[in-house]
Amino acid sequence: MRVSVIGCGYLGAVHAACMAKLGHQVVGLDVDEAKVADLSAGRPPFFEPGFGDLLAEQTSSGRLEFTTDPDRIADAEVHFVAVGTPQLQGRYAADLTYVRAAIDTILTHADTSAGPVVIAGKSTVPVGTAQRVQESANASGKDLVVVWNPEFLREGFAVEDTLKPDRIVYGLPDDPDRASIGKRVLDECYASLLGLGIPRMLTNQPTAELVKVAANSFLATKISFINAMAELCDATGGDVTQLADAIGYDPRIGRKFLRAGVGFGGGCLPKDIRAFMARAGELGVDEALTFLREVDAINLRQRDKAVDLASDLLGGRFVGHRVAVLGAAFKPNSDDLRDSPALDVAQQVWARGADLAITDPAAATALRSKRPNLNVVDTVDEAVRDADLVLLLTEWREYIDLDPVVLRGLVRTPIIIDGRNVLDPQRWTDAGWVYRGMGRHGGP
Ligand code: UGA
Repeated sequence: MRVSVIGCGYLGAVHAACMAKLGHQVVGLDVDEAKVADLSAGRPPFFEPGFGDLLAEQTSSGRLEFTTDPDRIADAEVHFVAVGTPQLQGRYAADLTYVRAAIDTILTHADTSAGPVVIAGKSTVPVGTAQRVQESANASGKDLVVVWNPEFLREGFAVEDTLKPDRIVYGLPDDPDRASIGKRVLDECYASLLGLGIPRMLTNQPTAELVKVAANSFLATKISFINAMAELCDATGGDVTQLADAIGYDPRIGRKFLRAGVGFGGGCLPKDIRAFMARAGELGVDEALTFLREVDAINLRQRDKAVDLASDLLGGRFVGHRVAVLGAAFKPNSDDLRDSPALDVAQQVWARGADLAITDPAAATALRSKRPNLNVVDTVDEAVRDADLVLLLTEWREYIDLDPVVLRGLVRTPIIIDGRNVLDPQRWTDAGWVYRGMGRHGGP
């Protein structure tokens, strides 16, 4: 099939390369010339395991090209909309500027003279957006069918999640003729994935839009739930890791997404729960989602708790103390600094006067340009040398594997806060460290 992908950020670039991998002829369109140049040359503009090889393979296969020229998308049979929907400045709602621009581009350039063409929305949007897009498509006089087809990929696993998703959801228009066209076209597009037995759900447009934000809200709620339990553990001497293991054995609960620590961040979970609350308010059902306000508050409190713990361990003042921060990205296997708990904690510690050094295996370059005030160093050794306190805030494998005995020889005072509860407390204590996790107080 001939496929276009509008927006070649994280989601769009990976989706475009994966569609080419499935055998389609793909054009990725973006307004950012530098990004298009990188992608065209097979150079990933962001860190994502496995994406570089796939991109190089598909661009050289001739099935995948990137462009800034909207005329090039004209003959696509399906246009995927994969632009960002960031949080509006100073408000909870989503900024739909890029979605509107992408739809305008499609309405202007799509050629429907040979038959109906599908717009497949992948961006996370407020419920009701697809119906409005369908109305403007109808008003354009072109034969366009809008299907909302949410994306559930995780950063760090983007290629794997796109080529082997848990499920595929089509949010189809109410009009039965349009719905059957949308279903047929997307079935053809995803034929090889559907052939693997991946579940496909057919819903209406609002359900599909809600599925996406409901999934992210549920994940955020799980994390804040366990972080609330971590607060209870801190107040009582309980151990949140054991608690999570114990409740996680119940398959109705499950162990995944019950890792307590400095909480969730990134370009999705935080802004999605806020945009969802804003949309519920517009719909007059804000009370249905007030619990998400608490989910957000618990999450942000974890960051403050890490800073307070650091302050306590340093005798109440950061000034005159050297603090090493391990990790800046919002999670490992990513260079994404958006709403990163690690960066937020580091910034707070710096603002309170610490002599801070921060390192991250992938995000150092981005960090230097985003936060020039911070002392960004390239290695763990540089970061921890003469430190009075080490803060582990992003659980990169190489940090989990650090040798406490070796590190002990580099720091001034062996105190570590494990902001992700990933280290073995016994091992660190045995090596002479003062170890503190988040809601972690050991077993019997
Ligand atoms: C999230 C969802 O997991 C994806 O399914 C979704 O497609 C994506 O958002 C999106 O909307 O595009 P992602 O933001 O890549 O994916 O990251 P997650 O793996 O969900 O992690 C989010 C944050 O939660 C990270 O900061 C992570 O450190 C934190 N987290 C995760 C915890 O604090 N505890 C956990 O137990 C799990």
